[in-house]
Amino acid sequence: MVDDLIRRGQDCLTPALAFHTDIIVKKAEGLYVESVDGKRYMDFSSGLATVNIGHCQPDVLKAAKSQMDELVHSGCIFRYASEVELAENLARITPGGIEMFFFSNSGAEAVEGAVKLARYATGRQGVIGFLGCFHGRTMGALSLTSSAARYRKGFHPLVPSVYHSPYPYCYRCHMGMDRTSCSVECFEYLEKILKYQITPEEVACVVIEPVLGEGGYVVPPMGFMKKLRELCSRHGILLITDEVQSGFGRTGRWFATEHFDISPDIIVMGKAIASGFPLSAFGASKELMSKWPKGAHGTTFGGNPVSCAAANATIRTIERDGLLSNAAKMGEYCVKRVLEIKGRTKGIGDVRGLGLMIGVELIKDDNTPDKDRLDSIMKKCLERGLVIIECGVDKNIARLMPPLTVTKEEIDRALAIFEEALS
Ligand SMILES: Cc1ncc(COP(=O)(O)O)c(C=O)c1O
Repeated sequence: MVDDLIRRGQDCLTPALAFHTDIIVKKAEGLYVESVDGKRYMDFSSGLATVNIGHCQPDVLKAAKSQMDELVHSGCIFRYASEVELAENLARITPGGIEMFFFSNSGAEAVEGAVKLARYATGRQGVIGFLGCFHGRTMGALSLTSSAARYRKGFHPLVPSVYHSPYPYCYRCHMGMDRTSCSVECFEYLEKILKYQITPEEVACVVIEPVLGEGGYVVPPMGFMKKLRELCSRHGILLITDEVQSGFGRTGRWFATEHFDISPDIIVMGKAIASGFPLSAFGASKELMSKWPKGAHGTTFGGNPVSCAAANATIRTIERDGLLSNAAKMGEYCVKRVLEIKGRTKGIGDVRGLGLMIGVELIKDDNTPDKDRLDSIMKKCLERGLVIIECGVDKNIARLMPPLTVTKEEIDRALAIFEEALS
């Protein structure tokens, strides 16, 4: 059955889709996924940072099923409550000043919508992104994505007037500095872009992941984010934070931007917003959102009633069960435990993260990235019932991102498997 399904898939699904495992799922519930051959796995990938409150969360399913009995699709023809309720909920939980929303289907689509809004509202064309960030695969989003050249290979020329500045990746500084010698040269590079390549008056927006996801689970220094906010405000450039991966409680706050005590002009979210139902959004102030007229942007499926109902239930569950504080607590506990493992094992270069968005960087004796070691660790973990996936341009960083519901006992069990696989 397993081999047969994989073979059939190979015959009819595009080879461009890269599956992380060959697990064929019989049932998924909370942290656990059971395969058709009866094996049970702990999903420390949360379905790629998407089922933040666990697989098939019962309240989410109930809300979705009840919405399905009333209305499945509107296509902007009919009005319905779940979308308006969701926008109201999001206005409450997003950082200050974010008041209005546009709903789309995927992260990439929402990133593109946010950039379109920025261009329209400012009348400027320039877009600045950061080396290492991932924003999606559609042509506009891909033009910003630079977490690996392989994602862009074969698709040039991309959208023009997009510039990239180095992300503050302190463990492997793009500018060749270390923490003792650093005087935020990466920020100076951004200022040089504005001096040598495009004037600030021509830049519509700066787009950044407040915690690097696909590019390596990197947390930028507080000072960098504050300087970035200040630079954008000074030049009338809109700051867009892409919270597609870092949002919805993943870092122990609703949105990672909150950790830096700043507010973006536009916030982008997706993935965990609806616990696996397809939905994404970007939000801005009423003033900014009102700068584009009716029809400037549109969608057929965006804001699907069922997805919106699932998103409302997701927000209710996170609030009711105190999952933000559990994510913060369990994140600290997990980092502490991985640091202990680092102390007694060779090959872990860096452990970092916010909340339950934790990166463990595997290195060789000479500090270079060790992809092969991580490959073998992930394989062994899988054999022992633990799903972990990688990230980073060199694919040598393990991402630990269990659901926000994870317990100490589950972290202990997962890390025991991880440590055994390491050694
Ligand atoms: C930060 C970030 N932005 C955008 C995207 C694109 O999202 P989607 O795959 O839903 O288009 C991703 C996906 O991993 C992401 O992590």
